[in-house]
Amino acid sequence: MGKRVRAFSGCSSPVRTKREQKNSEIARRAAGEGIVLLKNEGVLPLSSGKTIALFGAGAARTIKGGTGSGDVNERESVSILKGLKDAGFQITSEKWIADYDERFWKARQDWKQEILQESGGIGAADFFQVYSSHVFLMPNGREITEEDLQGADTALYVISRIAGENADRFAQSGDYYLSEREKEDLRVLCEKCLHVIVILNAGGQIDVKELAENPRIEAMLFIGQPGMEGGHALADALTGRLTPSGKLTDTWAKAYEDFPNADIFSHQNGDLEAEQYEEGIYVGYRYFDSFGVEPLYPFGFGLSYTNFKIRCDRICADGQTVSVGATVENSGDVFSGKEIVQVYCVCPQNGLVKEAKRLCGFAKTRRLSPGESQRIAVSFPAKALASYDMKRSLWIVEAGSYILQIGNSSRNLTSVGVLRVEKEAVIEKVSPICPLRSALQELAPAKDAMQRRVRQLEKQAKEEGLPVISFAPQEEIIRRRPVSAYEKKAAALTEKLTKEELIAMVIGEVTKGQSSALGASGVKVPGAAGETSGILEEKWGAPGVSMADGPAGLRLVKKYSYNPDTKEVYGAGISHALEGGFFAEDEEEEGAQARYQYCTAMPVGTVLAQTWNLPLMEEVGKAIAVEMHEFKVAWWLAPGMNIHRNPLCGRNFEYYSEDPLLSGFLAAAVTKGVQSMPGVGTTIKHFACNNQEDNRKGSDSILSERALREIYLRGFEIAVKTAQPMAIMTSYNLINGVHTANSFDLCTVAARQEWDFQGVIMTDWTTTYADGGSVPWKCVAAGNDLIMPGCAGDFENIEKALESGALKYEELQGCVQRLLTVIYQTLEFESCRPYLSEMKREDEINEFCEYV
Ligand code: BGC
Repeated sequence: MGKRVRAFSGCSSPVRTKREQKNSEIARRAAGEGIVLLKNEGVLPLSSGKTIALFGAGAARTIKGGTGSGDVNERESVSILKGLKDAGFQITSEKWIADYDERFWKARQDWKQEILQESGGIGAADFFQVYSSHVFLMPNGREITEEDLQGADTALYVISRIAGENADRFAQSGDYYLSEREKEDLRVLCEKCLHVIVILNAGGQIDVKELAENPRIEAMLFIGQPGMEGGHALADALTGRLTPSGKLTDTWAKAYEDFPNADIFSHQNGDLEAEQYEEGIYVGYRYFDSFGVEPLYPFGFGLSYTNFKIRCDRICADGQTVSVGATVENSGDVFSGKEIVQVYCVCPQNGLVKEAKRLCGFAKTRRLSPGESQRIAVSFPAKALASYDMKRSLWIVEAGSYILQIGNSSRNLTSVGVLRVEKEAVIEKVSPICPLRSALQELAPAKDAMQRRVRQLEKQAKEEGLPVISFAPQEEIIRRRPVSAYEKKAAALTEKLTKEELIAMVIGEVTKGQSSALGASGVKVPGAAGETSGILEEKWGAPGVSMADGPAGLRLVKKYSYNPDTKEVYGAGISHALEGGFFAEDEEEEGAQARYQYCTAMPVGTVLAQTWNLPLMEEVGKAIAVEMHEFKVAWWLAPGMNIHRNPLCGRNFEYYSEDPLLSGFLAAAVTKGVQSMPGVGTTIKHFACNNQEDNRKGSDSILSERALREIYLRGFEIAVKTAQPMAIMTSYNLINGVHTANSFDLCTVAARQEWDFQGVIMTDWTTTYADGGSVPWKCVAAGNDLIMPGCAGDFENIEKALESGALKYEELQGCVQRLLTVIYQTLEFESCRPYLSEMKREDEINEFCEYV
């Protein structure tokens, strides 16, 4: 049976639109700039037209993105094989690749059957649980033969990994470690080929220490999961059409055990209930640098085909902002390229013990020709230098010397000046939030050693005659936004609503809710993750709005059909939205016409982040906003901005980095891009500490308020303060015993009162469904305005809480008023109204794209 709708989105012609063309070019650029060149002993770039032997799971089955809600259903994806061929390379190993393809399809079918059997079918309640815990493992290929190599002196070997939501990765062979087959293949290639290049096609890091140290492997590139244009982007980098300029946004360790939480993360210690964040603020390079652990590849690292000289010209600071001016010169003489200037600060260690250094700001140059220079300014707010003093609930910049360092990775830095703070400055006064329920033993580096290090750097700075700038940081000014016209309109309507209408509004479109944790409950826009309630449409003219997933693009079904007479839609459900419709059965209905919704699969979050390119992130955001208008999606359930606390988190690919400042700047840039188009907005997620996927709805993130504020909330704070996303999505997990969806401290105290968040806060999908999940009325009381996708039990629960007095009527009204404010903001624009406007014809869409 189809679902009944009143209007629909998408094109009636399958022909590629101009918008698709334009956005795929952006996807290609973003994938190219997100590539990190980890190693190059001079073999790269290659001359195009060269003959290459190509192997590995991802050769023709290149993984464009992760699974689950972060997946995107694009028209087609460019594999590495196709990308290389399009660039003119000759491939000697096509037989091996064809054989691999057969193995791949067989493995896919077996995998599908296993899931369908174990779960009881696609419609079964257990389907998503079974699906997500059976991560598809890329099969092994056959042995490489002499014939496969004939005529090629260069071999390219692609190592691929898949991961997705609801399941963490494993520190095992074939996942975090290389498989025996991969090792053997590489051994053969190193023996038989003159040049061996390794391509890492994974959502996160893999143990590549042996490859890094193997002199026979001459080059290694981390392409991540590069989206639908990955094959072209890689070819661009290999041929030198593009000089790699991506930098790692995580520290890559020599051994998994080098991570501070290696033993306790998720399933590693068998405890999925209580996750003790013992490492405190020492996450990523903050840990490696403070505890003297040598990384394999440091945070911020990435090679280029050319060299750059970075010279600091100027440092200035007023009470609110610090600005570092630098000149970057391409000092090579062959290749042009871009460089990323990174500014770090070594803070004094007098009062609170702090990390050895922290990223404060960064900027990327334009493409510089050999010999060309660019002046660049890196600015950051005084708060980038502050630490959180839990005892006094204050963000402070302590008195002392702040040594500024600049360079092109966290381990390739030069001190350039000292900010001298004479007396402690309070940057922000806050209230304590999310208290620990019992004592937590946190890691801390030896204070005297940290102090010695700072003294030594200070001494060096003096000897070198570096500038000393006196700096008096001032309290941060939060400019409270004035009441908007939307807010007034929303308040007026909220007053008139009945209790039933109010309750219905704080729950998503209940009748269309579905039991799967992975959203695909939208009906107005097939494949969208959900909709707000349509209860006010007829009486008050305020229809529900649609929301669709990301962060690597817009997740909708790419093809569905509808019957114009019966208004019935077919092929719109979860099975069609998942894995490009791999689990779906064809629903052919007489009289139904096909509709197409081809979205652009951008690179995953981590790859986007590796560009360190804020204007490009804005462009990506804008490209997605164009698709949102085209398909009538009001809110994008992205970007994901959780911190990469451990490389085994199954969802790291969706997120940006181990560093909160970088994550915050990137999320703000994407938000600005999306919200530069009227009526559409982002939903930053998952707020907060959703750092593990196993038992994600029941795991309790136990951490100090300092770690919470400095590491896990800081990115969200930056995004809210600088870009005001339309929405925030809370996470599934608990923080110190309280479900984030029920946390007044997070939703109201931190986001609204401290950061002046003006938008709507919603839950993650079905968080109220399970036993032990979040409590519906407590979501409302916390200021979590919208329970998604909503179920009938939520209504009853909220009604009872109102009757008992546990929930106040004004609290409910507050949620509705905030929700309506954002809905009005959205509905003002015709193209964001799912039900009300007529479908756009293809020529109109093309016109629209050109205009944009
Ligand atoms: C994910 C969210 C997503 C939602 C809707 C959940 O399973 O955790 O990130 O937005 O589904 O698809």
